[in-house]
Amino acid sequence: MHHIVSIRDLWFRYRGSDEWTLRDIDLDIERGEFVVITGRSGCGKTTLCRCLNGLIPQFYEGELKGSVTVAGLDVTRIPVARIASIVGMVFQNPSSQLFMLTVERDVAFGPENLGLPKDEILRRVNWALDMLGISDLRFRSPHELSGGQQQRVAIAAILAMQPQIIVLDEPTAYLDPYTSLSIFNLLKELNTKLCLTVILVEHKLELVASLADRVIVMDKGCIVLDGSPREIFVKDLSVYGLKPPSIPRLFLKLSGYGFKFSRIPLAVEEAVEVFREGSRS
Ligand SMILES: Nc1ncnc2c1ncn2[C@@H]1O[C@H](COP(=O)(O)OP(=O)(O)OP(=O)(O)O)[C@@H](O)[C@H]1O
Ligand SMILES: [Mg+2]
Repeated sequence: MHHIVSIRDLWFRYRGSDEWTLRDIDLDIERGEFVVITGRSGCGKTTLCRCLNGLIPQFYEGELKGSVTVAGLDVTRIPVARIASIVGMVFQNPSSQLFMLTVERDVAFGPENLGLPKDEILRRVNWALDMLGISDLRFRSPHELSGGQQQRVAIAAILAMQPQIIVLDEPTAYLDPYTSLSIFNLLKELNTKLCLTVILVEHKLELVASLADRVIVMDKGCIVLDGSPREIFVKDLSVYGLKPPSIPRLFLKLSGYGFKFSRIPLAVEEAVEVFREGSRS
């Protein structure tokens, strides 16, 4: 089977470090998957993201063993600028990615660098602004926008490159829960509508529990768990410094007291369904 991401026996350590930051990572991701990567601070999530777009080893020096293939290309070898049109990266702090005078210029920047014709650039800018619901911000300065608006602009700028994969490293770290949820819902929509592969590094498990197809837990540079949210969130994650979302936690506790449920729900809406089914049977 052809995977959009294929990582084999990946080990990485930063220059000057005795410790391996990534250890024996094997990971295949299918086109169109929505993958959440989580794990305690310092476990190597950002480092793994840097391996997906060639920043490691091309910008961050160190020792790399194993292979990282994205869309069939060896990202340790091909130029980072070329990978950027395949793998889009969104970081914690959107203002670090926005540097033009208007939103429109920022969103046009990527396609311009791809050397696309003017009418195609315009088409992509219109399309990306429309997808993100920010056409009204077009002529505003990115630096006058709220964090949530800026993050939408940053995602639009990535989308305008029409990448096959979008990697987001804690994109909502500076946003309130409501705005975070609207960004996650938007990612789900892009994932479904465009079959965009989404790789999201996230601590806010509560908000992504019912959106992800797959949850990967990392610890000390290794992948320690990999499964559907339903498989992962019924486990004791405290050993990895994590807390499963409260709905599955509550239902697991109640099951422990002898309450019977048809399944362990992941989010409030599903919990309501489980109760309604239960009360009818
Ligand atoms: N540029 C760098 N040079 C040297 N060591 C680094 C560098 N970046 C990260 N590290 C080290 O690699 C380890 C993993 O860091 P990484 O940023 O990948 O963790 P993380 O899982 O993203 O953490 P967080 O949840 O806090 O963002 C840490 O020990 C960190 O100190
Ligand atoms: Mg990080």
